[in-house]
Amino acid sequence: RAAGPCAIIIFGASGDLTRRKLIPALYRLAQRRLLSPNFAVLGIARTEMSDEEFRQRMRDAVIENEEQTFDERTWQSFASGLRYEAADLSDAGAYTRMIASLQRLEGERQTEGNRLFYLATAPELFSTIIERLGECGLTRAEAGRWTRIIIEKPFGYDLASARELNARIARFFGEDQIYRIDHYLGKETVQNLFALRFANSIFESVWNRNHIDHVQITNAETLGVEGRGGYYERAGALRDMIQSHVLQVVSLIAMEPPTSLSGDDVRDEKMKALAAVRPIKDVKESAVRGQYGPGFVLGERVVGYREEPGVDPQSTTETFAALKLQIDNWRWAGVPFYVRSGKRLPKRVTEVAIRFKDVPHNLFTANGESLSANLLIIRIQPNEGITLRFNVKLPGQAMRLRPVNMDFRYSASFGITLPEAYERLLLDCMLGEATLFARRDMIERSWEIVMPVLEAWAAEKPDFPNYAAGTWGPQAADELIERDGRRWRRL
Ligand code: BG6
Repeated sequence: RAAGPCAIIIFGASGDLTRRKLIPALYRLAQRRLLSPNFAVLGIARTEMSDEEFRQRMRDAVIENEEQTFDERTWQSFASGLRYEAADLSDAGAYTRMIASLQRLEGERQTEGNRLFYLATAPELFSTIIERLGECGLTRAEAGRWTRIIIEKPFGYDLASARELNARIARFFGEDQIYRIDHYLGKETVQNLFALRFANSIFESVWNRNHIDHVQITNAETLGVEGRGGYYERAGALRDMIQSHVLQVVSLIAMEPPTSLSGDDVRDEKMKALAAVRPIKDVKESAVRGQYGPGFVLGERVVGYREEPGVDPQSTTETFAALKLQIDNWRWAGVPFYVRSGKRLPKRVTEVAIRFKDVPHNLFTANGESLSANLLIIRIQPNEGITLRFNVKLPGQAMRLRPVNMDFRYSASFGITLPEAYERLLLDCMLGEATLFARRDMIERSWEIVMPVLEAWAAEKPDFPNYAAGTWGPQAADELIERDGRRWRRL
């Protein structure tokens, strides 16, 4: 289904996100004819720039992204809807000027008064922008039109600030107008969790404590902080990845089947799963943090985190975090979820591994055979796919065993490049589909889950750096899981 007419107002349009993700995603939607011909983009940021310069910059960005598939004709028609306005977003007068430009653009492009505000600025500006939009009467739509707002992460800095931000937005926007983006939910492989679990009878029947020993979620990046030192210093791995993306994935793995795929049915169930996560009491037992020092990643020498631009040479920000989570409900009692996320690890891989229980009685010990556990591996990226690992008999007279893989790979089955997360999410928002966006209660609950860890870490100075770039994080992360007689998967 294609989106209807609308104007997209991007705050923070001179920034990285607009260039790297938003405009390329909109361009691809245009290419796939999923954008209305009556669309408009009004980019707003502090940098002075003409419409033409803005278009030129965006064209370069799209070419950088698209290389193979860039099409000049599609670009020209897409670019005709792009405008730019320089404004200091903390200045009230700027909004009056913006409204004038917006109305002109809406008239020219016949966007029918539908508006999507996108907050892609530094998070410090979120509240001001929302308030100004409210004061100017821009947050309510007239009958038959819609106004929505997408809010980028980070959504708050801790529980208190997330609550405050939610409360402030709620003063001006209804919950059905608010789209809190978590780009992991836009990934095909993450959406496929619904299909895997609820379109197949074989998996859901074993998806519980009777059959599953534990769950491991790994998010490993080879990248460092890539010039985002300023932002990352105030974030760290727990805020940047675990509070948002990783807990979203946990909720999709752990949730009960919803009654439908509609926004609130799905989000109610995800919320219940998060609500059942046991509060972390003993932080030393359940959480590990790390920061990378210099090392080698993919054969290249890289500097330590403290040497990165924009980073304090004494920084105590973690670039690696691992948690052991327990979910206190009938389905998951006694099944730990181990999660880890880190930068400058040896390879880029994000996966969920479901480790099934051992067989109750091993018939093969007499032959000296130890059994490998059954594993269901959901590879979120790269080499997207699903692997089921089970034991087979090695051909030959003796009863020797070996684990083998049964593989589903997107590339082999569908031979297409998967659509980008932002493409899907922008389209969903224009269509008014909220299922893949985070709801207010989920955001606050995710903060609640990580707060005890953030507080304990803030109170004690870490001994950083404690892992070399290009290794799998600090030794304590291995100990976290090995104390329970388990191991991280070797990836
Ligand atoms: C972002 C984080 O939300 O997700 C980044 O701020 C991180 O630090 C990125 O690199 C990871 O996204 P992806 O899609 O590359 O896994």
